[in-house]
Amino acid sequence: MNERGTKAPLRREAYDRRYAMTLREWLLHHQEKIVFTEVKWMGLPAWKNPLDAWIYQEIVHEVRPEVIVEIGSRYGGSTRFFADLLDILGRGIVVSIDIDRSLYQCRHERVVELTGGSSEPAVLDEVRSLCRGKTVLVIQDGDHRKEQVLRDLVNYAPLVTPGSYFIVEDGIVDLFHHGDGLGFEEEGPLAATEEFLAGNPGFAVDETRERYLLTYNPRGFLKRIGP
Ligand SMILES: C[S@@+](CC[C@H](N)C(=O)[O-])C[C@H]1O[C@@H](n2cnc3c(N)ncnc32)[C@H](O)[C@@H]1O
Repeated sequence: MNERGTKAPLRREAYDRRYAMTLREWLLHHQEKIVFTEVKWMGLPAWKNPLDAWIYQEIVHEVRPEVIVEIGSRYGGSTRFFADLLDILGRGIVVSIDIDRSLYQCRHERVVELTGGSSEPAVLDEVRSLCRGKTVLVIQDGDHRKEQVLRDLVNYAPLVTPGSYFIVEDGIVDLFHHGDGLGFEEEGPLAATEEFLAGNPGFAVDETRERYLLTYNPRGFLKRIGP
């Protein structure tokens, strides 16, 4: 209502056009126009679908990890996000692994930075030592090629404690096609996940974490349900 008590015009057409988008079109829109430039956590770029970030918040609240291992931090917006969540819980550290710190900007007392490739023995030794005896959540957002994701799954999944998760990011690239705005030329995270799951019955896909439909991590929320 305006001051004269009449209804303001609704500008319905623009929203009708927006709501006619398919979920696929929204994902491409988010990928092309939003994720690399417009998504920030506390001012730092975070390459996340915000609906996934909300799910991470739920998982962190439920699991109450003492260690969050983040493979791939880039600018560090996601690292800061996880560290801030741990601050709210009042416990825990984020182990940030990245091969390249040139863009990294996160400064937070809960973050331990390990600079190097996630498969390097020295990095793995350090992570294993930091995780020993702790409740651990792992997020793989590093190299998205199938072979490297599989290597990270094999090396880091044993660190995940029962009831916690190994989150494989960006499997969505395997559901699109090369050249369509989201697809890769070669196989990626989803292909690695399927191969890993076939040989590791101790992990199961938690589909409830895809309830918002729009996720970058299809079949990527892997819950540790057994040895
Ligand atoms: C997709 S970005 C990470 C984005 C970040 N997690 C976020 O949400 O904003 C991928 C990062 O992984 C790093 N990376 C690539 N291969 C890696 C490897 N083998 N080990 C560790 N880090 C790697 C890259 O340097 C890059 O910073």
